[in-house]
Amino acid sequence: MNKLSIRDLDLKGKRTFIRVDFNVPLDEEGRITDETRIQASLPTLNYAIQNQSRVILASHLGRPKGKVNAKLSLKPVAEALARALNRKVILAPDCVGQIVRSQTRSLKDGDVLLLENLRFHSQEEANEPEFSRQLAALADLYVNDAFGTAHRAHASTVGMVSYMDRAAAGLLMEKELTYLEKAISNPDRPYVAILGGAKVSDKIEIIENLLKLVDVLLIGGGMAYTFLQAEEFEVGKSLVEVEKIPLAESLLRRARELEVKLLLPVDHVVANKVDATAETKTTSIQETPIEWMGVDIGPETIARFKNHIASAKTILWNGPLGVFEIDQFAAGTMAIARAIAESPATSIIGGGDSIAAVIKAGVADKIDHISTGGGASLEFLSGLKLPGVEALNNK
Ligand code: 3PG
Repeated sequence: MNKLSIRDLDLKGKRTFIRVDFNVPLDEEGRITDETRIQASLPTLNYAIQNQSRVILASHLGRPKGKVNAKLSLKPVAEALARALNRKVILAPDCVGQIVRSQTRSLKDGDVLLLENLRFHSQEEANEPEFSRQLAALADLYVNDAFGTAHRAHASTVGMVSYMDRAAAGLLMEKELTYLEKAISNPDRPYVAILGGAKVSDKIEIIENLLKLVDVLLIGGGMAYTFLQAEEFEVGKSLVEVEKIPLAESLLRRARELEVKLLLPVDHVVANKVDATAETKTTSIQETPIEWMGVDIGPETIARFKNHIASAKTILWNGPLGVFEIDQFAAGTMAIARAIAESPATSIIGGGDSIAAVIKAGVADKIDHISTGGGASLEFLSGLKLPGVEALNNK
């Protein structure tokens, strides 16, 4: 990595703004259901504290769209972080403004201040210069450890960097980039990518790049139906992004040109509604009932996907193959998680849902690299530059 590292900075007595990704999943009651991202930030935070820095942490949580939303306050994160660090974490009432400025000025060496959700201000995602300047004015040094948000060009990941003297990568950012760089620079082949999940529009554009790198692309989950529709299959009430169908068609053509094996489901579990009380049946794709929707890949698809996974040397997985949160619809995702764990290939998974799936399948410890970034790892591995990384100073 040719970027400046937190290890290159003289942190003692300095107010250090550390952009972290504490965008953690919350349940209905606002409790954190998975602390992976908090745990993953600890090496950087402990390093800064041990080196007597005055630590100012900033993150977004969810998508509050520029409005204060008490349900997306970082309060539960501050509490979880205090437990994890075993020290006091002060939660600021905002991320900019007079009160926050004076809080940052009264920090002592080793203190930790967590700013409130950056996305309570629309200027964060708009990467607005005045807001960026106000964030930068809070600190002497800048560190980006938010790998999971490095694909976003926002005020806290890009805009404020131009107002800082020194901008370095944190230890998690370094670890993620080092691992993922190795995976794209010279991957062992066959290289098999498995894509799923419901965020179709987020991923479909990345496939174009991915096709240049992989030998096999297995597509399941919600996003498969836009492709199946493009191939003119009846998909019933399954999830389809109609405006992406032309793009799906051109990607299918591109895969043929590049001789990449692109596999779509050949059978699936369909349900009359998406909840645990639904009626379900397994059908071939050709026999999808008009009023039903696909909720999981079927046994024949699982077998075909597993064959490719077993002979792969590098595997990238992002996104579940069905609505795996509901046990009845989890068989495909669980089978793929176990197959990846059993495969001798170097395995990389990213994205909150895929992490939850390997944990649910009890195989998380058998995955070589679990990335804290879903969208970020996918963009990086498909060869795109991450704005949050590009913005940092070179060594
Ligand atoms: C993520 O969870 O992928 C990152 O925190 C980025 O969040 P976003 O997709 O809301 O920008």
